Amino acid sequence: MTNPSNSEIDIVKSSKSKIKDVDFNNLVFGRIFTDHMFVCDFIDGVWQQPKIMPYQAMSFEPSARVFHYGQAVFEGMKAYKDENGKIWLFRPDENHKRINKSAARLAMPEFPRDYFLNGLETLLKMDKEWIKSGIGNSLYIRPFVIATEPAISASPANSYRFIIICSPAKAYYSGKVRVLFAEKYSRSANGGVGFAKAAGNYAAQFYPTALAQEKGYQQIIWTDASSHEFLEEAGTMNIFFRINDSLVTAPISDRILDGITRKSIIQLAEDNGITVEVKRVPVTEIKEAARNGSLKEIFGAGTAAVISPISAFEHAEEVFEIPDNEDSYASLFKKQLLEIQHNVSQDKHHWRHEVK
Ligand code: COI
Repeated sequence: MTNPSNSEIDIVKSSKSKIKDVDFNNLVFGRIFTDHMFVCDFIDGVWQQPKIMPYQAMSFEPSARVFHYGQAVFEGMKAYKDENGKIWLFRPDENHKRINKSAARLAMPEFPRDYFLNGLETLLKMDKEWIKSGIGNSLYIRPFVIATEPAISASPANSYRFIIICSPAKAYYSGKVRVLFAEKYSRSANGGVGFAKAAGNYAAQFYPTALAQEKGYQQIIWTDASSHEFLEEAGTMNIFFRINDSLVTAPISDRILDGITRKSIIQLAEDNGITVEVKRVPVTEIKEAARNGSLKEIFGAGTAAVISPISAFEHAEEVFEIPDNEDSYASLFKKQLLEIQHNVSQDKHHWRHEVK
């Protein structure tokens, strides 16, 4: 595959910013978008010249393959502003690698790294007023690729659009999260697309999650599809269990997303001398630990969710409340992670990437 010789971007600026109409103290996740977006089309085997243009509606033929077969993948990232006004990304190469891994699984073309980083950085510099400083503030970034070819035979498209949109964000979950352990429904199966950030993975969770919400739970922790005996991930975040002073989390597999926050926490745990066991997590073990008091915490980890403590879970009609923990690992990791992301603390693993 060849691409134009450089990733030079064709830029059209918005004539008026919407930023003055935004109440940054009362943001609902993912509802408001910045002034610009990045767009790049894949036509005849080649990524075309990338563009940045005012955020706007797009038109596609009703036959575009994405509408029929869900050929769509995405990423979740965040940009942060430090107290000196510098803008930072967190491990952006990991997102670039992962979107290409997701794309490959859905028979979609890879997106070149220079297009990705140059496009994203240019977009962030144009919309930099939308990134507020201070821990707790961030700009959520949503890169995604959709199949645009107008054709409805069930086969991969020959044209795609890569887009990046951005949305100012605070917390994804407000307060603690109550979860249901899945007994019947499944998120993903062996050999499937669970590891990919494929749009359909998320749509497939909406119905069972709505049922869980009717029972007072915000999320489901998915169990393995074949036995429903092992806890895997929550779909919006990977999951960690603290048993006494050790952390336990499920291994990455073709059913589980290779979360960037997840792997950063595993590293931070090691830095703090906390043992992490990456192993299959039996439902029975967690229920037993909750009964005998050795289950100290459960928390989720993801880009949007950051680190979200879980206050209760239900399985097989049994409800377990998890008492508050004064020295919680969730608070420790959240503080350390946010301080790295916001350029407050040392970045010994070189995770920060400055947008210059
Ligand atoms: C993210 O954390 O970035 C995700 O993609 C999860 C999404 C459901 C908001």
